[in-house]
Amino acid sequence: MYNLRPLQRRRSSTVTDAFRSLSNARSDVFKAMAAVAAAWLCAQSSLAQELIGSVADGQAKSAECAACHGVDGNSITAEWPSLAGQHAAYTVRQLRAYQTGERDDVLMTNFAVELGEQDMLDLAAYYEAQTIIPGGADPELVSLGESIYRSGVAERGVVACIACHGPSGRGNPLAAYPMLQGQHATYTANTLRAYAAGTRRSDATSNQMMRTITALLLEDELLAVSSYVQGLR
Ligand code: HEC
Ligand code: HEC
Repeated sequence: MYNLRPLQRRRSSTVTDAFRSLSNARSDVFKAMAAVAAAWLCAQSSLAQELIGSVADGQAKSAECAACHGVDGNSITAEWPSLAGQHAAYTVRQLRAYQTGERDDVLMTNFAVELGEQDMLDLAAYYEAQTIIPGGADPELVSLGESIYRSGVAERGVVACIACHGPSGRGNPLAAYPMLQGQHATYTANTLRAYAAGTRRSDATSNQMMRTITALLLEDELLAVSSYVQGLR
């Protein structure tokens, strides 16, 4: 019995120590959580900053692009893509792809490498604010093109384009799926061939999905779906 008090004291002091170290540990956890939250907020605000482009500045900077992509982003020649209406984040990512070498083109790369981060944001904002003037689909190719776009090619595992690019080819800016609507068939066919050949590698961050899909397409299917996309509105 006489042992009880020291034992109790020891117990209670052990409990107190344990509680103290627990609350210390807790405050460490809270400190760590606060640090993580602060870093996250910081990242969010720099992300928000990163996404601001000025349409007016972009318009001024687009003068040198207009020779090929048109004053309003509707290009003059079928080999050169129209940029009007394209999601700004996608345009920025493609310009970066020319800078890193994931895309390469004799005409385009030289223009892209000269652009700074703010230039790309401004130009992308300007083009997003323009309206695409769609061409038409070749009536002879439209039924094959539509079938591939809407249903894919089941026997070869070609996924339907509609799943990512949407029923009218508007894409999905949140998922980084580009707008295809109204794009020149000649450019679309060229870029699909570039994915198939592996010379365009800008889909690295999206599971190489375009390289995978285009590798399964036959040339007549590629031409038909490109023509169908040109007619989408
Ligand atoms: C001499 C003609 C020419 C000029 C000038 C030019 N481009 Fe291009 N651009 C092209 C061609 C050709 C392509 C397609 C290349 C390819 O297949 O990768 C292209 C592709 C692009 C793409 C990719 C589009 C897509 O749908 O993936 C963007 C974005 C772009 N250009 C923006 C610009 C901007 C911004 C400027 C001005 C700073 C500019 N271009 C100047 C010819 C040009
Ligand atoms: C699983 C989603 C998915 C499917 C299905 C899909 N795409 Fe894509 N597509 C993407 C993504 C993501 C990109 C952007 C990749 C990059 O950054 O290069 C893209 C890019 C493209 C581009 C390049 C646009 C440009 O101007 O830069 C074309 C053209 C295209 N897709 C056509 C098609 C066609 C045609 C089909 C159907 C045969 C198809 N896609 C099916 C996700 C998809």
